[in-house]
Amino acid sequence: MSRITCPELSTKTVTAEEAARHIDNGQRVAMSGFTGSGYPKAVPGAVAARAQAAHDKGEDFRIELWTGASTAPELDGVLAEANAVSKRLPFQSDPAMRSSINAGDTAYVDTHLSHAAQQAWFGFYGNLDVAVVEVAAILPNGLLVPGSSVGNSKTWLDLADKVILEVNDWHPRGYEGFHDVYYGTRRPPERLPIQLLEPMQRIGDPYLRVDPSKVVAVVETNAPDRNLPFKPADEDSKAIASHLVDFLRHEIAADRLPPELLPLQSGVGNVANAVMGNLADSEFEGLTAYTEVIQDGMLDLIDSGKLASVSATAFSLSAERAADFNDRIESYKGRILLRTQEMSNHPEAIRRLGVIAINGMVEADIYGNVNSTHVSGSSIINGIGGSGDFARNAYLNFFVSNSQAKAGAISAIVPFASHIDHTEHDTQILVTEQGLADLRGLPPVARARKIIDNCAHPDYRDRLNDYLERAIAANPTGRHTPHILAEALSWHEKFQTTGHM
Ligand code: COA
Repeated sequence: MSRITCPELSTKTVTAEEAARHIDNGQRVAMSGFTGSGYPKAVPGAVAARAQAAHDKGEDFRIELWTGASTAPELDGVLAEANAVSKRLPFQSDPAMRSSINAGDTAYVDTHLSHAAQQAWFGFYGNLDVAVVEVAAILPNGLLVPGSSVGNSKTWLDLADKVILEVNDWHPRGYEGFHDVYYGTRRPPERLPIQLLEPMQRIGDPYLRVDPSKVVAVVETNAPDRNLPFKPADEDSKAIASHLVDFLRHEIAADRLPPELLPLQSGVGNVANAVMGNLADSEFEGLTAYTEVIQDGMLDLIDSGKLASVSATAFSLSAERAADFNDRIESYKGRILLRTQEMSNHPEAIRRLGVIAINGMVEADIYGNVNSTHVSGSSIINGIGGSGDFARNAYLNFFVSNSQAKAGAISAIVPFASHIDHTEHDTQILVTEQGLADLRGLPPVARARKIIDNCAHPDYRDRLNDYLERAIAANPTGRHTPHILAEALSWHEKFQTTGHM
């Protein structure tokens, strides 16, 4: 049976190529999609083909592309390969898009994920021409059932002059009832408190709304989400998880956490995913999560019975996990709620609920400034995503990483971070396979000693201690956060010239 049961909208069904004709050179185009789920599968490829045809004739064809977060080869990949994106925001992780940004061909605006929607409806990014949004079904009354992500779809549908809908029947029809779309947003000074008092509380509608008169095309698809595999949990990620779990036990014993903890947030990436999976082996029960993405590790935690419920904005699953979830979707009903990313990452909700935030990092410096986004200061990897939304407002925040990268050629603990996403004022607890540094309440030099002793790899520890002692000695009137400026980034420089820090 067709997933498009609204008579008015079903008459607008066209091919992806016909739909793509509504998108012109120079336009601002917002698409659904978050961490490889719920992104349009067909129209982006048709837009890329239009761009390629225009370029072949020597004509310009580039769009500004806004999304929820990262998408997939069928969206970011094809458009980047056709050199069709002049500006991109917010989070992305596609190899072709990353290359286009790092080559200087696409301008990248790496906003916090809770900020993108509100900055769009504040008008900070200019008028939105077209929204392309994937859904699981269109109901007879024109309401839309989202699929595996909500992201910024609500805002894109509200703001765009024209709307193209993709209806993808790969998403189970059973998604109806899994979503909570908040329609209470207002601009300051009319803004209202977000009355969200517990993670699974519904504060919105189960459906997305669209003005049918704005819908210019509806495209039917049947195509899976990106669904990339995760690296299996290795000894290092198990060690990271074990340090983290010991610390949580310690906090319960000290009466700073209840036995069922507080709502968990787990970031993107292999390490954060493995930590969640390993929590399944712990004694904790009755856990909850107020997070952004649901990766395999979090579904493991639900299946083990340890995690009672999860509020998020999107899935980011391996292909096997996605197929299994789609088969057993009914068994997860009432235990998973997908919200707009404005709400899943809302600072007010995160602070009120007292979230325990666990995010991956690229590197940290000895004072606890954290780099989540760049290699050697200049090249973007993915983006800040929601790590700032969560870390800044969490009850406890953890940044996790292996102590080394590239087979030991790189230390994840460095004298000075080559890019800083989370400052020493925000970061609380760093964890590597070597151990855990609890930085709460510590001044800079004490933080440095703890990070070096507990988190740095032994191969780099002496050199870090040597740097710290020489920095202290060299700054008799600058002993608060001592550095040797000419040497602070020398480890990265050495890596660039010799291939080893
Ligand atoms: N210098 C250079 N490269 C480094 C590095 C360092 N200090 N540390 C890690 N890397 C490389 C790894 O070698 C790996 O590269 P490869 O794919 O070529 O092997 C890549 O970065 C990913 O590293 P990995 O150890 O597998 O970590 P991860 O998958 O857990 O990802 C981040 C780590 C930081 C990239 C990831 O967590 C991220 O994008 N974070 C920012 C967004 C975020 O936190 N969102 C969460 C909010 S919900």
